[in-house]
Amino acid sequence: MAAMEYKQRTVTCGALRQEDEGKYVVLNGWVHRNRNHGGIHFINLRDRYGITQIVVGEHARDEVRQIAEELRLEYCIAVEGIVRKRPDSMINPNMDTGSIEVDVQSLQILSRCEPLPFMIDEESDAKEDLRLRYRYLDLRSTGMQNRIRLRHEFVKAIREHLSARDFYEIETPTLIKSTPEGARDFLVPSRLYAGKFYALPQSPQLLKQILMVGGFDKYFQIARCYRDEDARGDRQLEFTQLDLEMSFVTREDVLKTIEDLFVEVFAKVMNYSLPTSFRRLSWSDAMNTYGVDKPDVRYDLPLVDIGDIAELIQFGAFQTALAEKGSIKAICAPATDNLAYSRKYIGELEEAAKVYGAKGLAFVKVGKGGVLESGIAKFLVGHETAIIERMKASEGDMILFIAAPWKKCCNSLGAVRTKLARDLNIIDKNRFEFCWIIDFPLFEFNEEAGHWEAAHHMFSMPQAQYIPTLESDPGSVKGDLYDLVLNGYEVASGSIRIHDVELQKRIFRICNFTDEEAESRFGFLLNAFRYGPPPHGGIAPGIDRMVMIMAQQTSIKEVIAFPKNTAAVSPMDDSPSYVDDKQLDELHLLIKQPVKSE
Ligand code: AMO
Repeated sequence: MAAMEYKQRTVTCGALRQEDEGKYVVLNGWVHRNRNHGGIHFINLRDRYGITQIVVGEHARDEVRQIAEELRLEYCIAVEGIVRKRPDSMINPNMDTGSIEVDVQSLQILSRCEPLPFMIDEESDAKEDLRLRYRYLDLRSTGMQNRIRLRHEFVKAIREHLSARDFYEIETPTLIKSTPEGARDFLVPSRLYAGKFYALPQSPQLLKQILMVGGFDKYFQIARCYRDEDARGDRQLEFTQLDLEMSFVTREDVLKTIEDLFVEVFAKVMNYSLPTSFRRLSWSDAMNTYGVDKPDVRYDLPLVDIGDIAELIQFGAFQTALAEKGSIKAICAPATDNLAYSRKYIGELEEAAKVYGAKGLAFVKVGKGGVLESGIAKFLVGHETAIIERMKASEGDMILFIAAPWKKCCNSLGAVRTKLARDLNIIDKNRFEFCWIIDFPLFEFNEEAGHWEAAHHMFSMPQAQYIPTLESDPGSVKGDLYDLVLNGYEVASGSIRIHDVELQKRIFRICNFTDEEAESRFGFLLNAFRYGPPPHGGIAPGIDRMVMIMAQQTSIKEVIAFPKNTAAVSPMDDSPSYVDDKQLDELHLLIKQPVKSE
């Protein structure tokens, strides 16, 4: 069949201005709105560049008027006409093309559209699964169009910046050896080798390290990563990292590289000026002051340790925590007109705390003249001044306390801090506040498995002073690793790497890998390290998370063209799906449980 002949656009729907008056133009696009005012059709024609009003007037040919009658929302059409200035009273200052309209001479329907499952607007208010099922419609919304554009510009600016600084963009394979990196691998069965599997990379971590051994001393990649874990607001099964690695560098070099990169990219893409270096917090300061290792530092509301004062206070929860070598911390909720600290509200804060393991949230109100009222006030008699001074509290403030083991105490009160800030409405949505978290512990004890594990991954360098005591005291070892945090989200992680076979083997052993297991899983890395590996380090910012924050969203699905839903399903194509027995046969696979037919 011959291809349909149609008038191809001479301009886009966002292009025309008053200066174009009198021009003959052709537009292609979608019918965004179609209003009939007393026989005159006002059609808003949309494409990704904007919206242009086209008018089928009373003098239009019958054939044109007939087609105009036929148009429904989201029909894809071609329009031919003359640009004319709108009458003054009809000028729309909110539209880029608001001073003109196109007087239609001919109309052609390029394709029709069934009744819509939801309206295409600035943002769709349809349920998420419906949006994802009809993602092609959802993608037409201005919101999605803008976010996908932002993502493109972000990645483009990154490529430009790094390419201008001697970095090579190098692709690494997505069918690799299964090398556990913290999450569960997605596996791909091999047809040629029965019983063998490739894995999809959780990140290109080992391959980028091997590129350093290969002499490519400045590498980056916009890399797709796959992790079989629960999808949440800021997590997807597959996501994209700016993966970066450099040889002959210190931590300072990596941090500076990222600071320079984001300073330039934010200026270019967001017209936003970042400081030339970002604030730094040690992991323990972040935990103690903000209760998390990814603090939102756009506001203060610090957690304050009152352990020493609490020693003198005969309040059961405090004394129990102290006896168990736990912590007692407090936060001062400032007096404000927009939040009443009712019992009910304090109950809500307590619920937020309990999610992180606190047993309860104690409170007192600061009354007139340094008196403490209600809550646990009666236990604090005699210690009012000490507490008020420590908390820098004033009349009307509410002081909230948690006593618990250190980490629980930090995390629970950190959750209270976050909720308070939201409810107090003190978070500036237009600010981007980066912060480095450094000096992380290298190991974490996995209670379930009963052994130590790498807190980040097993390839990070311990700080030099801890190397002699790695085995005897893993819990106190700090690593040469760093996270970048933006507005309360972890947006990047990285480290200076181990490049010494023996040190790498010691880390594997501490993480419960025998030498044989380590050799069979990571032998290729250890082999590479036998051939003059350079000292190296790197980092990987998450592209989806960064764009999500830049676009002021709270779910990365809003910045991914075709995401999975929270049940790990793509409602548009229904993946994951069953496959034919023949496909399973070829892959030498038998499904353990008989499957229900779809
Ligand atoms: P890490 O595992 O911390 O480090 O990941 C780095 C960054 O990737 C993003 N990210 C995710 N984004 C969306 N969905 C997910 N499931 C997800 N998981 C991680 C986050 C995170 O900060 N190889 C190391 C990096 C290195 O050491 O160079 C790594 O992958 O923004």
